[in-house]
Amino acid sequence: MKCTAIANSNIALIKYWGKANDKLFLPTNSNISITLDGLNSHTTVEFLSGHKEDIVNIDGKNMEGEKREKVVRHLNLIRNIANSNLRAKVVSKNNFPSAAGMASSASGFAALTVAACASLGMNLDKKQLSVISRQGSGSSCRSIYGGYVEWIKGKQNEDSYALQLADENYFDIRDIIAIVEQEEKKVSSRAGMADTIKTCPLYSSRVNAAEENLIKIKKSIKEKNFSEIGKIAEFDCLLMHATMLTTLPSLIYWSPETVRIIKLVQEWREDGLESYFTIDAGPNVHILSLPENVKEIERRLKELEGVRNIMSCKIGGDSTLSDNHLF
Ligand code: PMV
Repeated sequence: MKCTAIANSNIALIKYWGKANDKLFLPTNSNISITLDGLNSHTTVEFLSGHKEDIVNIDGKNMEGEKREKVVRHLNLIRNIANSNLRAKVVSKNNFPSAAGMASSASGFAALTVAACASLGMNLDKKQLSVISRQGSGSSCRSIYGGYVEWIKGKQNEDSYALQLADENYFDIRDIIAIVEQEEKKVSSRAGMADTIKTCPLYSSRVNAAEENLIKIKKSIKEKNFSEIGKIAEFDCLLMHATMLTTLPSLIYWSPETVRIIKLVQEWREDGLESYFTIDAGPNVHILSLPENVKEIERRLKELEGVRNIMSCKIGGDSTLSDNHLF
């Protein structure tokens, strides 16, 4: 059966940076994200008899090497669960340029999981889909759901899964993304976080802080307290980057423009334009704000020379199956 799925990207408010179990992708700390509306991967999968190899086409290019391998490994996992040995054709498109420095692995693996499992006739609930998606790319398990999503770290395969804390209509906060660099990062999240665990002397302190901040941010989400959500997200981002900076060899994902925007956001806040930043393993800055401040933040970002592109997102919904097949 040919099946197609669409999944949104997400941005973590409490980050995942390190695995307690490399094979199963169990994170060292539970983490929380919001799903991003409009930044999505659209993926069609069909398993066919008579094919010798999986075909993987992303954004119009047939994949080879490590990128293809990651997808094939994930298809192998799904084939194992479904007890199938059929090869697949996978065609996927990101509606945001993957060369724009935006991570597509979260939305990409979520869409792949939903489409491939449906294509093999597996009737799974979202929790089960998140357990499978997690093993393709950790952060992708959160993209199975829309809204505010927690990834519970768990101790073994089945109890490390994503859970929706609140849906996309619960509390409207926005993510304004300032793209400052378009190149793909030199050190992948996977390799970077493995180095951090091995070499960073601050690592366990950050994990403890993340667990405390997770409890605090859940309370702020419950109370719809944007100021607290923003403060905690910004603090956790800096704690994660502190462990990246103190990894050997050092992981400095920021560029001069990143630091400039960090400082500006803090100045804007002091002047009454309430906004907070968070940054993944890259130089681009996600600015969290309430809807009424989006226009002004966009206006100020447009004036900055180093900002190449600006994308503003509402909180997005669940991953879904679609009839809009790509082949
Ligand atoms: O799941 P990965 O390998 O894309 O790693 C995600 C790591 C961060 O984006 C830095 C944090 C997060 O929780 O999304």
